[in-house]
Amino acid sequence: KPHFLGAQDLDPPDIANLLDLADVFVDLNRQSTKKLDLLRGRTLVNMFFENSTRTQSSFELAGKRLGADTINMSMKTSSVAKGETLIDTAVTLNAMKPDLLVVRHSASGAAALLAQKVGCSVVNAGDGQHQHPTQALLDMLSIRRAFGHVDGLTIAICGDVTHSRVARSNVILLNAMGANVRLVGPPTLIPGDADQWGTEVYHDMREGIAGADVVMMLRLQLERMDGAFIPSAREYYRFFGLDREKLAVAAPGAKVMHPGPMNRGIEIDSEIADDLSVSLIQDQVEMGVAARMAVLASLAARLENDR
Ligand code: CP
Repeated sequence: KPHFLGAQDLDPPDIANLLDLADVFVDLNRQSTKKLDLLRGRTLVNMFFENSTRTQSSFELAGKRLGADTINMSMKTSSVAKGETLIDTAVTLNAMKPDLLVVRHSASGAAALLAQKVGCSVVNAGDGQHQHPTQALLDMLSIRRAFGHVDGLTIAICGDVTHSRVARSNVILLNAMGANVRLVGPPTLIPGDADQWGTEVYHDMREGIAGADVVMMLRLQLERMDGAFIPSAREYYRFFGLDREKLAVAAPGAKVMHPGPMNRGIEIDSEIADDLSVSLIQDQVEMGVAARMAVLASLAARLENDR
C-alpha cells in the first residue's frame, strides 16, 4: 500500500505535483461549497497519541471535504488508557478495514512501524522528534504562494531544532526544492550532526537571520527536554526570541512563520506573530487543510491504481 511517512520519500516532481494539487484545493476551500468525492467510499481514521489542534482537525476536514468517512480516535478514552499498545491499537482498527490511518505518536519511527503492521495506507502526522512531513508540505505551500517560488530563497529555521520534527522535514523538502536553509539556535538546541544536513548553522540569531527571506520560528519544546537543559524563558527570549529589532536584519519583505502552537514572549513577540504584513502563521493553518487534502487525494489515486 502507498504510505506518506517522511519527506525523504518525495522527489522534486512529487513535491511540485502535491503543491500544484494543494493550490487547487486552496481555491476550493475558499468557495462556499467545499465538497468533492475523490475519497467517497474511503474510510480515514485519525489516531493521535499526542495532543494536536491543527494537524488533527485539518486531517479531519481534509478527509470530509474529499468525501471520506472520517473518524477521530480519542486516545484518552480508548483502550490505550487500559494499557493497549500502539501496535495492538492499530491492528485492531485495521481489522475494521480503513483505507487511511493518520498517526501521531511520541516515538520516532512509529508511523513507519505501523505501516509494516497494517494493510492500509499510513500517513505520518508527526513521530517524536523525527518528522512531520505534512507540516513541511504546508510550510512550502505557504512560502511558494507568498514568493511565487521556493528555489533560491534563504530560509532561517530558528530555535529548538533538536526536538523539532518540523525542522527535520522542512530541511529535507526545502533542500530538495533548491532553497538555502540555515539553522539558527543555541548549541544546546542544534543537533550534533546538523552540519551534515546540507544547511548552514548559526548560533547568533542576528547573524543567522541576516538577509533571510523567511524566518521560521520553532516552539521551545519543554516537554521533550529531560531537565538537563531547560533555558530560562527570559534569557531565551533575549537571545533567540524574534522581535521587531532582530527581524530588521532580515531581507526587505521577509516573512515570518511558526508551525504552532506558539510560546508568545518566549520564541516570538506577539507584535510580530500578529502582524499580517509579515506573518504567514494564519496562512500556514489555512494551507494545512489544502496540503493534507493533496496528500490524501494522491494516496487515494494510488490506491485506485493498485486495485
Ligand atoms: N503544527 C502542529 O503540528 O500543530 P498541532 O500540534 O496543533 O497539530
